[in-house]
Formats: sequence, structure tokens, C-alpha cells
Amino acid sequence: MATKRVLSGMRPTGRLHLGNLHGALNNWIELQGRDDCERFYFVADWHALTSDYAETGHLREWSRQMVIDWLGAGLDPDKSTIFVQSAIKEHAELFVLLSMITPIAWLERNPSYKEMKEEITNKDLSTFGFLGYPVLQSADIIIYKANYVPVGVDQLPHIELTREIARRFNHLYGDTFPIPEHILTAFPKLLGIDGRKMSKSYGNSIYIGDSGEALRQKIEEMFTDPQRVRRNDPGRPELCNVYAFHKLYSTEAFVLELKNSCENALIGCRECKKRLSDAVCIALAPIHERIDHYNNNSSVVEEIIAVGNAQAKAIAQETMEQVRAAVRI
Ligand code: TRP
Ligand code: SF4
Repeated sequence: MATKRVLSGMRPTGRLHLGNLHGALNNWIELQGRDDCERFYFVADWHALTSDYAETGHLREWSRQMVIDWLGAGLDPDKSTIFVQSAIKEHAELFVLLSMITPIAWLERNPSYKEMKEEITNKDLSTFGFLGYPVLQSADIIIYKANYVPVGVDQLPHIELTREIARRFNHLYGDTFPIPEHILTAFPKLLGIDGRKMSKSYGNSIYIGDSGEALRQKIEEMFTDPQRVRRNDPGRPELCNVYAFHKLYSTEAFVLELKNSCENALIGCRECKKRLSDAVCIALAPIHERIDHYNNNSSVVEEIIAVGNAQAKAIAQETMEQVRAAVRI
């Protein structure tokens, strides 16, 4: 019997990269194995607007493509409700109500708010919507009375704020919402091919849809142990991003052998990367097959989203009736 609810979302900012796959999506997929949980996964298209409100041309296409990437990676519509945030207007209603009870100081001291405002200089982020980002995220979570929210570390401040907002609501209007908890993904950190954090905006990502020569090319360009300049230099696999990838894509036996051969300069980086390309190609092949299938059957995807939206909407409506009663509005 499903007694707990899992909920998570992702902003549609383009194709999924392997950082998204290992940092979040695989965790979502793994949770499909738990029969004590119901799962809700959604496209956070309103959240995409908080920073990209001036460039909305790709939004619909990216939302659809992201759902296809999810399905390709193994999200199963029979086990997970897949929906689109902007189709469930109740999120916006709850967002308004939560905005009334959220102190501005809570939002201004949010570390990811401060960090993004400092880092992103090519967009004007001094908007009301951007400051309110975590209030909308809180509405997304508690409207489904979610118990668990699987996310990457970068999202922890938002989940903590959600807990504070839910507690405040319960305190003011009576017990309505469970206090959600995060579920963190434990995975070795994957960097982009240039050694920085894998991010679409850095142009250093390997995408879930990459294949063939393009994929090989990217892996060949990957940053390795900077001290291993010549073929006979001993390497330090623990500091090498290629090694981190091997841990995810190669057999345990190969990884063990590689550690030794790298440390003793028995293998060259070129060969090591070639082996990685082969392993990644094999792992992505069934994903590509499913992605092609859904790309060629867009009505199937539309149907999955329509069914998911209806399931999500029914729950959101029920919660909002309780919320309106609690607030007496
Ligand atoms: N902020 C999340 C991200 O950038 C996306 C998101 C929006 C989310 N609403 C959510 C995640 C609710 C978990 C729960 O990835
Ligand atoms: Fe990295 Fe492989 Fe080169 Fe070792 S051999 S430094 S693990 S690329």
C-alpha cells in the first residue's frame, strides 16, 4: 500500500545531460521500486520563467523533450505521475496564499538566491518572481502533501524553506501539511568535459542524446589528472573525471584494474577514454532507442502528460479545498 508521497521537479532548460541523469533522474527512477510510495514528477515550466522570462521561445518544445528524455531514461508512467506545473493552476493559488505568510527576510537570506544573483550577470534577476522562487517551489511540494523530495544538494536550502513555510501555515491555520523531507542522491560528482561543474550554460556537457562520433569526440576532450602529462607519468585516478565516469559506466572489475594501471602508468589516457566511450555508448543505446520511439510517437507522449496532469490536478484540487477552508477564504 502506498502511504508516502514522493515529489520532484526539474526546470525545462534544454536536453538532459549526464549530470542531471546521475544527479537527480536516476534517483527518481530508483524510487519507482518502492511500493510504499506514490511518485509525482513534473516539469517546472513556471520556474524556468523566473530567470528566463525574456527567452520563452523554446519553453514548450523543451518541456516536451524533457519528458521524452525522462521516459527514455526509464521513468515509467505506470509507476510515476508525470505532469506539467503550468497545467495545474492550483499551484499558483497556493503560491499566492503562501506569499502572504512568508517573511521577505527568509527569501533574502536564502543562499542559492544570493549566489545566483551574484553569479548570473547577463540577466536581470531583481524581480519579484525570482525572489519568490522558493515560495512557488514550496507550493509545488506541499500541494501534494509530499513526504519526500529527491533532489541534488543545491536544492537543500529550498527544501528547508519549504519546511519552514509549511510549519508556519500549520501554525497559523491548523495542521494541514506534512513537513516534507529531502532525499539526497549519493553519486560521485561528475564534472563537465572542461573540469568545471557540468552545466548547459558552460557548454561542457555530455547530453543524454549524444551518440556516435560526437559522443566519442567529447570524451576524448575530457579533462584528466592534470599532473599526468606524459604517457609514463603515474596518474591519480581519484582526481580524474574520466575515472569518475568509469565508476558509473564500467564493470567493477575494470574499475579496479584501471586504478592500478593508471597509478602505474600501464594504460594511456587515450586508451582509457576509448574504453569509456565504448561503455557509455552501450549504456545509452537502450535509452536512445526509447527516446526515438517517443519522438516518433508524439501522441503517446501527449497522452502520458494528459493523464498525469489529470491525476495531479485531482489531488491539487482536493488539497486546495482544505486550504481554503483552513484559511477561511
Ligand atoms: N528548483 C528545482 C530545480 O531547479 C525545480 C523544482 C521546482 C522542484 N519545484 C520543485 C524540485 C519542487 C523539487 C520539488 O531543479
Ligand atoms: Fe584519468 Fe584514465 Fe588517464 Fe588515469 S588513465 S588519468 S583514469 S584518463
